[in-house]
Amino acid sequence: MTDQTNTTAREQDRVLIFDTTLRDGEQSPGATMTLEEKLEIASLLDEMGVDIIEAGFPIASDGDFEAVTQIAKAAPNTVICGLARANLRDIDRCWEAVRNANKPRIHTFIGTSPLHREFQVRMNKEDMLAKIHETVTHARNLCADVQWSPMDATRTEEDYLCQVVETAIKAGATTINIPDTVGYTAPRESADIIRMLLERVPGMDEVVIATHCHNDLGMATANSLAAVEAGARQIECTINGLGERAGNTALEEVVMAMRVRNDIMPYRTGIDTTKIMQASRMVATVSGFQVQYNKAIVGKNAFAHESGIHQDGMLKHAGTFEIMRPEDVGLTETTLTMGKHSGRAALRSKLSDLGYELGDNQLNDVFVRFKALADRKKEVYDDDLIALMTDQSTNSANDRIKVKFLRVICGTEAPQSADLTLTIDGTDHQVTATGDGPVDATFNAINQLFPHEARLALYQVHAVTEGTDAQATVSVRMEEAGKIVTGQSSDTDTVVSSAKAYVNALNKLLVRREKTAPDALSAE
Ligand code: KIV
Ligand code: ZN
Repeated sequence: MTDQTNTTAREQDRVLIFDTTLRDGEQSPGATMTLEEKLEIASLLDEMGVDIIEAGFPIASDGDFEAVTQIAKAAPNTVICGLARANLRDIDRCWEAVRNANKPRIHTFIGTSPLHREFQVRMNKEDMLAKIHETVTHARNLCADVQWSPMDATRTEEDYLCQVVETAIKAGATTINIPDTVGYTAPRESADIIRMLLERVPGMDEVVIATHCHNDLGMATANSLAAVEAGARQIECTINGLGERAGNTALEEVVMAMRVRNDIMPYRTGIDTTKIMQASRMVATVSGFQVQYNKAIVGKNAFAHESGIHQDGMLKHAGTFEIMRPEDVGLTETTLTMGKHSGRAALRSKLSDLGYELGDNQLNDVFVRFKALADRKKEVYDDDLIALMTDQSTNSANDRIKVKFLRVICGTEAPQSADLTLTIDGTDHQVTATGDGPVDATFNAINQLFPHEARLALYQVHAVTEGTDAQATVSVRMEEAGKIVTGQSSDTDTVVSSAKAYVNALNKLLVRREKTAPDALSAE
C-alpha cells in the first residue's frame, strides 16, 4: 500500500472507495466490455475520486491482461488493482499487468468456508493456511500494496476465519477484505464479524479492513455501512450495483448515504458526487444493464415527484420531500431547449450541463448527428442527447461490422423484407431477406451476411421520450457457447436501431471470442 493511501485510511473518518465495476461488475453475464469502454469508465472513476480501481483479472485472458495494463496508464491518480487466485502463476501475471501503475496493488483470494474448502478448492485447513502464507508472501515480495480476501468469509467458521486472516497479515497483507460472497449476511452480523476480528486477530488494527458485499438479499448497502461502523475503512462496490446475480454494493448508495446522513454516519469519501449520474449512464450503456426506474440515487424516478401532495410540497419548499438535491449527484435542470437551429456552442454547453465535456473533434462528430436528429425531431430533449452520446460511445470506429444501408418493406401484406448493406472488415456486402415482420427480416439479412451460431437471448425496445417521433433504444442480448453479450443502439427509426443494436452485439461477440474462459473460482 502506498504511504498516501495508508495515511488517508488511518484517518478515523475517511472511507476508501474501491470500485470493482470492471472486475466483479464485468463478471455478470452479458456485461462484457470492450477495451475502449473499460478505459473510458476507468478514466471517469479516476476523475470522480475513486481510491482504488479493480481493473480486472489478468490471468483470465490476454484481453483482461491488456485492459489492466492500459487502465494502469489511463487512471494515474488511483490505485490500480488486479485480481489473482492463490497461486504463484496468477500472482506473477497480475503483477506484470499492474506493475507500471503509479500505485499498483495485487489482490489475491481463496475460498475459506467449509463448502469452498471441500468442493471448490479441495484443500484441508492446514494446507490452506500454508497456501495463504506462501501466496501472500510471494505477492508482498513483488508489491508493497497487497490485499487479501477469504472468499465466502461470512460463512467461514469464526475460529478458522481468525486463523486465515492472522496468517495473511503475518505474511504481509496490507488490506484485509471480508467478502460476503453470496450475499448471505445481515447488518448486525456484518458488523459483529469486523468487531470480532479486531478483537481477536493480532495486527488487525494495523491493516485497512475492507467490506465486499453482494446483494442477494437486498442488504449489500446496509451490510457495507454496518461494517464501516464496526471499523472497516474500505468499501468495495460497483456503479449501479452491477455484478453477478443480484449485484454488488452500489457505489452511489453508500457514498450518498454517508453524505446525506453524516449526522449518524460521520465518515467521508473522496468522491465528487456530481459525477455519479454520468458514471451511472456510462456503465448502463456499456453493460447493457438498464437502471431500474425506482433505483435509489440514479433511477429515472429517484427525483421525480408525481403525486399532487408531493408536487405541492416541493413548490413550497424542496426540503419537504427531497433529502438531497438532484445537482449533488450531477442531475442538472437546464432551460435551454435544443432544436435544429441550435448551434455548436449551445450544444457544447448543454452537453457540459449533462456531464459530457467534449474536445473539438468529438463535438464536430456529435454535432453532425445532433443536426440529423433535430431534422427528424422538433425538440431534442436531454434524454435524446444522452441517448445520442450513448450511441456514439457504443458504436466504435474500430467495429468490424457496420450497418451501411437499410430499407424495409412492411405492412399488412406478408412477406416483410429488408434490403441491407453491411460493411464487414472494410468491404460492402448486400442482401435482401424476408421475415415475420421488419425486425425479423432485418435480423435474417444480418445473419445471411454474417453467419454465426449465437442465440438471440433478449430483444428489448425502450422509448427514450414521449411522442411518436421519439427515439427507440434497442437492447439485444446474444449467447454463444455460454458467453453472453449485450448490444445497444438508439434511433428514431426502431428497425434501424434494432439492426445497429444487433450488429453492436455481434461486434462484442467477436471481441469476446478472443478471450479464453477464466476458470475464475477454482483452485488453480
Ligand atoms: O465476492 C467475492 O468473494 C469476490 C472475491 C474475489 C473478493 O469477488
Ligand atoms: Zn464479489
